[in-house]
Amino acid sequence: MPLSLGKDLLDLESLTAEQITGILDTAVPLKAVSERAIKKVPTLRGATVVNLFFEPSTRTRISFEFAEKRLSADAVNVAVQGSSVSKGETLVDTARNLEAMRIDMVVIRHGASGAARFLADRIDSNVINAGDGTHEHPTQGLLDLLTLRERWGTLAGKRVCICGDVLHSRVARSNIHGLRKLGAEVAICGPRSLLPHGAEEVFGVTVIDRIEQAIEWADALNILRLQLERMEAGYIPSLREYNRVFGVTRERLARAPRELLILHPGPMNRGVEIDSDVADGPHSVILDQVTNGVAVRMAVLYLLRGGRPDQAAAAGAAAGDP
Ligand code: CP
Repeated sequence: MPLSLGKDLLDLESLTAEQITGILDTAVPLKAVSERAIKKVPTLRGATVVNLFFEPSTRTRISFEFAEKRLSADAVNVAVQGSSVSKGETLVDTARNLEAMRIDMVVIRHGASGAARFLADRIDSNVINAGDGTHEHPTQGLLDLLTLRERWGTLAGKRVCICGDVLHSRVARSNIHGLRKLGAEVAICGPRSLLPHGAEEVFGVTVIDRIEQAIEWADALNILRLQLERMEAGYIPSLREYNRVFGVTRERLARAPRELLILHPGPMNRGVEIDSDVADGPHSVILDQVTNGVAVRMAVLYLLRGGRPDQAAAAGAAAGDP
C-alpha cells in the first residue's frame, strides 16, 4: 500500500494515526539494516541530502547522516559556522543555492519555531524538520513511539508522563501529538513555571504536580533535559532544588506500583532531572531510543522519496555495496 506523507515531514500534529503507524511499520524492517555486517542498501542511491544544522546536535545530526548513508544517499553536512550564513546570508538564499546544485532533500534544525515550514514552502526539495525552536522535533517523537511500541506492542491505553521543562520542549510537543494519536494517555509533570499555560485544554494532557504522583500514575516517564541555558530567567530556584523536588531517583522509582520505562531524549543532565543509576538502570530504554533514531529516520527518508511500507522489508533486505 502506498503511504503519502506529502512533500515534507514538519511535525506530528498534522499527521494521522495511519501515517504515524505507517512510518513506524516501515522503520521495523529498515532497522535490520543496521544490524548487518554491511550496513547499506541501495534504496536511495543517487539522491542527495543536505543536513543543515543551525543549532548544536549530536544524536539527531549523526543519526540522520547514518540513515542517509545506510540508504546509499549522498549526504552533505553544512556547518553553519563555516558557511556564508555566518556572513549574513539568509536561510532561503542558502537553501536556494544548495538547490541550484541539484539536491533532493534538506534536513534542517533551526532555533526559530516555524523555520522548517518556512523553508519547505519556498524550495522544491523534501524538507525534514530536525527540531525547530520550541515547536516540534517529529523524528524524536517517532523514535520515542517506536521504542515504546517495541516494548508494549501497542500504545493504546498506556500512560506516558512527560517530565520537566515542557515549556521549552519541541520533543514534548511531538510526543504529545504522536502519543495521543496512537491512543496513549499523556500527562506532564514539572514546576508550573516550566509547564505551558492551559496545557490541559491546549494539548489534551493531564497536569501532575509531583514527581511521586507521576511515578505512581505512569507506565513510562519521558524525562526532559532541564534547559540550563534558560535557567538564568528564574524558572526554578536552583538545580539542587530541582533535583530534590523533581529529580527521578532510584529511591523514587522503587515506589512505582508497576514496571516503568524511562526515556530521555538527551543530552542528559545527570544528577539534575535524572540520576545516573536511573539513566543506566534496568528501566532505562535511553540507548534503545538512539538505536531507533536511525531506523525511523531511514523510514522517513525512504517514504518521502516515494518508498512504500509494504516494500520496506524487500528494501531492507537488498544487498548494498560492499
Ligand atoms: N534528542 C536530540 O535532539 O538530541 P541532539 O540535540 O543531540 O540532536
